[in-house]
Amino acid sequence: MNNTVDTPGPGAPGPDTPSGPDSSREPDAPLTSHTPNVPNTPDTPDAPASEASHSDTPHAEAPGYSPQWLELREGADAAARAPGLLRPLRAFLADRPPTDLGLVISDLGCGTGSMTRWLAPRLDGPQHWILYDHDPRLLDRAAALAPPTAADGGRVTVSTEQGDIGRLTVDGLAGTSLVTGSALLDVLTADEVEALVDACTGAGCPVLLALSVVGRVEFTPADPLDAELTDAFNAHQRRHRDGRRLLGPDAVTAATEAFERRGATVHTQASPWRLDPSRGAEESVLTEWWLRGWVEAAREQRPDLAPRAENYLRRRLNACAEGELSVVVHHVDLLALPGPAEATTS
Ligand SMILES: C[S@@+](CC[C@H](N)C(=O)[O-])C[C@H]1O[C@@H](n2cnc3c(N)ncnc32)[C@H](O)[C@@H]1O
Repeated sequence: MNNTVDTPGPGAPGPDTPSGPDSSREPDAPLTSHTPNVPNTPDTPDAPASEASHSDTPHAEAPGYSPQWLELREGADAAARAPGLLRPLRAFLADRPPTDLGLVISDLGCGTGSMTRWLAPRLDGPQHWILYDHDPRLLDRAAALAPPTAADGGRVTVSTEQGDIGRLTVDGLAGTSLVTGSALLDVLTADEVEALVDACTGAGCPVLLALSVVGRVEFTPADPLDAELTDAFNAHQRRHRDGRRLLGPDAVTAATEAFERRGATVHTQASPWRLDPSRGAEESVLTEWWLRGWVEAAREQRPDLAPRAENYLRRRLNACAEGELSVVVHHVDLLALPGPAEATTS
């Protein structure tokens, strides 16, 4: 059963976003665990990202995600995340038997750890977060930036695991209280989503998968080329890459169906990015980066659009610099709870 949690609606639909990715995968790497109980050391985020290091946007062919990009988007991500899913999640977790470590939470595709920084202070009690990614460089950064305390002051500890989500197993999740992922689903393939859902439902874990693109973007003001670029961008998100076909904007539907086939109850809530460069320099830089990546991905998908896309980008960047453009990039957060609705909501 798919329960859509009521949320202030994001307005009229538009097209998609570029959390787009370059998921270079660990070749059949077994799950390895290291750096247990890394102390939580606050750190200073990197300097504002330059365009050159923007390897996370859809145009990028370099492997891996730029930590600068992940950190630049963290504020917009935090503002977009769906708080309405926390109530059923907290209720579910409250009914579970406590472990020695408190809640054990596995954050898949953790990047630099923005999900931990957002969610740990919103859950009560001691927590141990397992930061999971195939990129060791991001794991190190995520561990160093983990938040120190839970909502009620409970201790938060972290460890890191380097591995491939496509190789998750039920045994690997034994003892896990919650699985999370953020800006992740849409960069996976159908097989990886099935593996993830299999492992999580097999282990009886609730799963919170935040900020998946859904293929809609709204620009204010509108431009005649918005729709064509959006279609090209969405096709790019669904592209074949290294023999893998990414799910892109189909990911939420695929995951919902996969969870429901295994008897889980799925709650979804909109989590749109609302970018308004007139709000300050950081949002202006984020919007500019996002725009560049979005247009470049569309152009890569549809080379015939190149001359018009270049003019479009120039117009949009000028408007962004003048604070005369705003963008809503639609996402959806998904919470899957084991079992039927009656047993998972109070
Ligand atoms: C768009 S980033 C999101 C990072 C972070 N969750 C956030 O919200 O900022 C996607 C992350 O998933 C990781 N990733 C993608 N595919 C993966 C896979 N098959 N196995 C493990 N990690 C993966 C990437 O390395 C990257 O850190």
